[in-house]
Amino acid sequence: MHNITLINGDGIGPEISDAVVKILKASGVEINWDIQTAGEDVIEKEGTPLPDRVIASIKKNKVALKAPVTTPIGKGFRSVNVQLRKTLDLYANLRPCKNLPNVKTRFDNVDIVVVRENTEDLYAGIERQVDENTAESIKIITKSATERICKFAFDYALKNNRKEVACVTKANIMKLSDGLFLDTYREVAQNYPQIKQREILVDNLCMQLVQNPSQFDVLVLPNLYGDIVSDLCAGLIGGLGVAQGANIGLDCAVFEPVHGSAPDIKGQNKANPTALLLSAIEMLKYIDEFAYAEKIEKALFKALESGKTTEDLGGVFGTREFADEVIKNL
Ligand code: NAI
Repeated sequence: MHNITLINGDGIGPEISDAVVKILKASGVEINWDIQTAGEDVIEKEGTPLPDRVIASIKKNKVALKAPVTTPIGKGFRSVNVQLRKTLDLYANLRPCKNLPNVKTRFDNVDIVVVRENTEDLYAGIERQVDENTAESIKIITKSATERICKFAFDYALKNNRKEVACVTKANIMKLSDGLFLDTYREVAQNYPQIKQREILVDNLCMQLVQNPSQFDVLVLPNLYGDIVSDLCAGLIGGLGVAQGANIGLDCAVFEPVHGSAPDIKGQNKANPTALLLSAIEMLKYIDEFAYAEKIEKALFKALESGKTTEDLGGVFGTREFADEVIKNL
């Protein structure tokens, strides 16, 4: 029996969490969910969108599955997601983007893994209002954080039989910060002669991704470029409804979809649970439950192949009906 924290989020979070928990239960994998509420709905009662009990639960269980949480814009609360990643030092954001069966996109053969540094860069939150007409944000890049993310990317490549790790920067302009990222990548890469190296500027990468994405394998990027490029890659494989993710640290890991809380379709049984389900499948692999991961993936792929999907993928099924279809295929 695995003890796992479940943050069921807000917006479409509770609907897709229900669907995924139901599918995992039907698969037979033994999980004891430690359910922790967070986000908009708990602010009034607990004064914060991320109460300490949530962090304590993840620290205890080491693994969490997380549905999206709304970040109120400009209301003084820091993003729950950024806070979680920083507090638990979840330094690697892993976003595999691979074509799915019967999900029509512009390109076949997309199989890219985005490895995004998760703790610094412009997300360090060091900003100030210099004067009425000027604001300043500071971009922090450190050698230690860059070393561990590059090492993570190369280790991932080795373990998963990938051929290349490309380093993405804008080191021609940000010669010191992105320059340090690139230099550190070069140093780390020397320990992995089996894996091909490649260096590419982020603007050129974006152009090439929308023209010929199948040339790319593993990408390692500083935080901000990683955030933007991973949404671009999500678009290459069918959009946010199918884009999975994971935040991994030395002690804990939090698995979550790339998408947000989608307030526009909240409570309408329209949300696609696939992104959260794929994140849960990765989570099962992380806890060494490979057989269940494979069983659920097969059932999901069969549902996608049959076209019995949610509206974002062109189907007519609701969240619950799609989950039932996956369960039928198990
Ligand atoms: P969003 O990802 O919530 O929605 C963008 C568009 O994609 C919407 O049209 C939405 O309906 C659609 N969409 C998203 N997920 C879907 C799914 N599973 N099935 C079908 N359609 C789906 O992005 P948005 O609107 O920018 O953000 C809404 C809130 O979510 C914000 O408060 C934001 O801060 C938060 N957010 C939270 C994240 C997290 O918890 N990890 C990540 C990204 C955003």
